[in-house]
Amino acid sequence: MLTTDIRKAKEMLLKNELIAIPTETVYGLAGNAYNEPAIKKIFELKNRPFYNPLIVHIKSTTYLQHIACDIPDIALKLANEFWPGPLTLVLKKQDHISDLITAGKNTVAVRVPSHPLTLALLDNIDFPLVAPSANPFRSISPTNAEHVLNYFGESLNVILDGGECEKGLESTIIGFENNQPVLYRHGSISLEEIEKIVGKLSITTNNDKSPNSPGMLSRHYAPMTDTYLTNDISDLLKCFEGKKIGLLVFKSQVQNDNILHQEILSKSGDFTEAAKNLYAAMHRLDQKKLDVILAERLPNKGLGKTINDKLERATKKE
Ligand code: TXA
Ligand code: MG
Repeated sequence: MLTTDIRKAKEMLLKNELIAIPTETVYGLAGNAYNEPAIKKIFELKNRPFYNPLIVHIKSTTYLQHIACDIPDIALKLANEFWPGPLTLVLKKQDHISDLITAGKNTVAVRVPSHPLTLALLDNIDFPLVAPSANPFRSISPTNAEHVLNYFGESLNVILDGGECEKGLESTIIGFENNQPVLYRHGSISLEEIEKIVGKLSITTNNDKSPNSPGMLSRHYAPMTDTYLTNDISDLLKCFEGKKIGLLVFKSQVQNDNILHQEILSKSGDFTEAAKNLYAAMHRLDQKKLDVILAERLPNKGLGKTINDKLERATKKE
C-alpha cells in the first residue's frame, strides 16, 4: 500500500517486516539492519544472491561509529561533504554487523540518505535500515512509488511514497585500499565531483570477478525488452527494419517510421535532468511491448559517464 505515514512504516519494521522507502537516488527495499530474519527476507523477495552485500542506511554521520571502525580521515571528509546524500562508503565493519549484510566480508557499505520522509523514519527508530534498490535482482531500479508497487505490490504492506526520486541514479560507492579512496560504483555524484575533494581516484567498477564489489555484476538494470547501445542510432536503425522499435536518446529526436516510442532524456542536453529521467524512461519503454530498444550513448563525462555505465550493464548480452 502507498502511504506517507511513517508510523505505519515503523510498525511494520518492528514486526520485522519489509517496507519500501524513498531516497534521493532510487527507492529502497528496507528492513531492520539488526534483525537477521528481516535481512533474509530482503534477499528472498528480491531473488538476490547472498554474495551480493547490502548498504546500511543511517540517520547521521554521528551514527557511523556504530557501524564502522578504523575510519580513514579521508572517508570522514567525504561524509562531511556529501551526507546526507548519494555517497556510499565501504569501511571496516563493527563486529556486530551481520555477515548477511556484508556477504561475509569484513567491510560494510553505509550511507546517510537525503529524503525527508526516510530521514524522519530513521529518526523515529533506534536501528539502522538495510536497503538495496527495490527491484527484483537485475531489473530496472525504481524511481517512484508506482514502480515499486508494480514490482512488489502484493508483498509489501507499506510503500512510503516520497514522490519522484530527485537524482534517479544509485549512490556513488567509494571504498578504501591502503587508506586511499577507490571508486567501486559510478553513481549520482560524478567522478569529477569526488576528485575535487580527494584528488585522483583509482577505479574498480568492473565486474563479476572483482572481490571488492561483488554486486557490480556486468549485466544489471536490464529491461525485459532486447536492448542495444550505440553511438549512432541511425546506423543501428537499419539493422532492425520492420521491427517495433523504441528509442532512448539523449537530447535530439530521431525521425523514422519504424520508431513506435521515443524517450528523450533531456532536450537541453543536461546530464542531471537525463539522470533523473533515465530509469523512468526505461520502465516506460519496457511496457510498450516493443521488439527492440535502441539506446544512445551519452558524452562520456560527468554524470554522462554514470549513465553510460548503467546503459552498458543494461545492454550487455550474456
Ligand atoms: O542509491 C543507493 O545506493 C540505493 C538506495 C536504496 O540507497 N541502494 C542500492 O543498493 O543501490 P543495491 O543493493 O542495489 O546496491 C548496493 C551495492 C551492491 O552493488 C554491492 O555490491 C555494494 O553496494 N556493496 C555493498 N556492500 C559492499 C561491500 N562491503 N564492499 C563492496 N561493495 C559493497
Ligand atoms: Mg540495485
